[in-house]
Amino acid sequence: METPHPNPFSLLSWSTKAGVRKDPAFFPGSFDYPNTLTMELDIMHNPYNNRPLHRATVNGRVGLTDDTGMFFPLRNGYPNFLAGQQVTGLNRQVQRFYDSMGRLAGWLEQLRAFLFPFDRRRTEWLRSITPKPGDRVLEVAVGAGYNIRRLPANVRYYGLDISGGMLDRCVRNTRLWGLNLQLSQANAEYLPYCDNTFDSVFHIGGINFFNDRGRAIREMIRVAKPGARVTIIDATAKEIKKQVQRMPFVRRCVCDEAVDRSRLYAPAQFVPEEIRDVEVKLIDNGSMYRLSFVKPINESHKMFLLPNKQHKI
Ligand SMILES: C[S@@+](CC[C@H](N)C(=O)[O-])C[C@H]1O[C@@H](n2cnc3c(N)ncnc32)[C@H](O)[C@@H]1O
Repeated sequence: METPHPNPFSLLSWSTKAGVRKDPAFFPGSFDYPNTLTMELDIMHNPYNNRPLHRATVNGRVGLTDDTGMFFPLRNGYPNFLAGQQVTGLNRQVQRFYDSMGRLAGWLEQLRAFLFPFDRRRTEWLRSITPKPGDRVLEVAVGAGYNIRRLPANVRYYGLDISGGMLDRCVRNTRLWGLNLQLSQANAEYLPYCDNTFDSVFHIGGINFFNDRGRAIREMIRVAKPGARVTIIDATAKEIKKQVQRMPFVRRCVCDEAVDRSRLYAPAQFVPEEIRDVEVKLIDNGSMYRLSFVKPINESHKMFLLPNKQHKI
């Protein structure tokens, strides 16, 4: 018989019931920020139909809309492209998990830095991300912004995440750190940016459990400029085994018989064959893989486009 595992989140639900979560002294990230709209709309589009976006106010809510009337309200200063969408499957499980983690992300990062050489690990992950001044750089699944903080200044950074909890923490962090980072709440499989926009696109730590890894990779390629590098880093089977002990949702994802075992390895099989020189390397003592390649300059750009047919995300 299986031994029941203690649920580390029981404390969270207890504290919500007790009202502790609402106290900013305990959870400073829970402040409401005034809506701001500094994003560059000319590089963004509706991720479900590729239409251009413009600013609008609907029923007193500020947000972005397109000519079909789809409306994405601002939340905490960033557009929420998941509003009105149904998030399903692994994406939903991960989103729920990180929504509760967002409030603890600051403490967790400090705890990890204290207990493990976590700073050194992040530095190693980011070694191959070397933007030049003025570049546009996108982090897919930006979390609380700890990677961007370690990258050079004078770069235009953009980030998106499926979890509002993580993004709220990220908003707070970037204000504290004085970073300029344009955020969106979106699914990595439906990026709200126009084709050929970024000088570099990177992702760290989520793709193993995206619903559709292939679609996410093609989206990263679509928004990268020809000649731009796409870098994807996530945990190897060795690291996932450790995470299984610590994180209940990882245990559910990995131990579920229905879950594809290939999720424990670099998703190189989803990189379109037109892309040559795909490199997969083990980094961080074999805990992480790094899958990277350059978007070809000469290939027809249409090759990387995705049908914009909307389905469950
Ligand atoms: C382990 S955290 C890594 C965060 C950040 N990249 C870092 O290195 O600190 C994984 C992040 O991926 C996000 N995520 C997971 N699935 C996603 C999806 N389908 N689309 C966008 N973000 C996703 C989670 O919400 C979470 O913030």
